[in-house]
Amino acid sequence: MPGCDNIVIIGFMGCGKSTVAAELAHLCGWRVLDLDDVIVATAGKTIPEIFAEEGEGFFRSLETSALRGLLGRKGLVVATGGGVVTRNENWPLMRELGPVVFLRTALDILRARLQSPSGRPLADGLSWQDIKSRYQQRLPLYQQADVIVDVTDESPAEVARIILRAIENGLDEKHG
Ligand code: S3P
Repeated sequence: MPGCDNIVIIGFMGCGKSTVAAELAHLCGWRVLDLDDVIVATAGKTIPEIFAEEGEGFFRSLETSALRGLLGRKGLVVATGGGVVTRNENWPLMRELGPVVFLRTALDILRARLQSPSGRPLADGLSWQDIKSRYQQRLPLYQQADVIVDVTDESPAEVARIILRAIENGLDEKHG
């Protein structure tokens, strides 16, 4: 038990948020909540369908509502979608849930993982140049996280242990 209500995982598409969230939930004895799954269940449509039929703005509104709907919940490792950081109003919501953790990954790993179609409207069919520039635009936002872990050379299980240690140390520091 890390001594906080929940943990929120952020990072670019393909950085391994879901896998790390599962490891972390296992370590904490908590549950994983995938924000994209909540959006899909609420909309009754897949993410590509939402983007194609309603546009990205509508998707972002569903994302914010899904986040707001989690307030008050405990014992969750929340795996967010890569673009959650782009709406300012999402930040206080994420921070209210718990510490926000950014999984930083080397660009060549992201490139390899996003090469083949994966049901991501902001990656499928786009050039690497466009994907990379989106990553670079978002990087300063991801860096606002409470904890930043470089996941390039670590296994998901090790990343989960590093996150837990960082959160526990951070909370200890805050408690003096
Ligand atoms: C998005 C990332 C996706 C999903 C949607 C938009 C983004 O989630 O929320 O396709 O804007 O980066 P993953 O990061 O889990 O792929």
